[in-house]
Amino acid sequence: MKPSQVIAFSGVDAELVGQATMTDRNADERASRDDDPTSWFEPLYRETDLEGDGVPWANMETHPSFRKWLARHDLKAEGRSALVVGCGMGDDAVEVSRRGFATTAFDVSPSAIEHCQRRFPDESVQWHVADLFTPPADWDSGFDFVLEIYTVQSLPPRYEAQVIERIARLVREGGQLLVIAIVSQEARSLEAGPPWVLTPSHIEAFGDRGLTVEDHFVHEGGARRGDVWVTTFYRPSGDGSPSDGTLSVTSIK
Ligand SMILES: C[S@@+](CC[C@H](N)C(=O)[O-])C[C@H]1O[C@@H](n2cnc3c(N)ncnc32)[C@H](O)[C@@H]1O
Repeated sequence: MKPSQVIAFSGVDAELVGQATMTDRNADERASRDDDPTSWFEPLYRETDLEGDGVPWANMETHPSFRKWLARHDLKAEGRSALVVGCGMGDDAVEVSRRGFATTAFDVSPSAIEHCQRRFPDESVQWHVADLFTPPADWDSGFDFVLEIYTVQSLPPRYEAQVIERIARLVREGGQLLVIAIVSQEARSLEAGPPWVLTPSHIEAFGDRGLTVEDHFVHEGGARRGDVWVTTFYRPSGDGSPSDGTLSVTSIK
């Protein structure tokens, strides 16, 4: 193995992504994942069963950091719509739907969506196979509550700016976006992913897309790889004040 070298990401929002260290190990696999960033999800879900065996992120219940958030927020639907991004095995979408939201949930993997439909046949979630890179046009500014858990970090760094932009666009005026992600202040390693653990600047980047931070806390030790940042944004209606990009941190164990 060649010694680590510092590289700059090319063709991406350099300020957002910064620099990363990488080695030549697994270069072929990394290159193919880089060119075709979502193709590895379908085989993983195709191989699993309704218990989610072998899907490393599958909690098979409401995500623990989302549960912490729910304890702080009175999430009520009042006739509102919700979208769950990269819904995986579907538990978080069901949590949202049971709170009365007209809930749409999507994943790029057809097998993941099949599992959701078979696990939750009686829930009123609208399950869709869809790609965050090319979502249906009428989803833009289409939802009152958007939930993103761990999708950005599951895609190679060169796509991060694009997917942050895509996710932010889904939120309608006056709507909320909840972003749950593993975040580290340490130097990033390309070969360590997936997941490509995010940095504080990735979370702050949602604020550059017309969203304002409403609430932010850190779920300490919330994941094997570190702390989980749980950040709520809203899209001001009309002439609402833009975000100053600053996150004041509360830690929760
Ligand atoms: C790390 S998993 C997290 C799944 C789920 N949110 C959870 O917390 O259990 C990332 C999910 O995003 C989905 N995904 C990745 N890229 C996507 C894309 N471009 N469009 C839609 N779904 C995507 C994957 O199939 C996978 O289910």
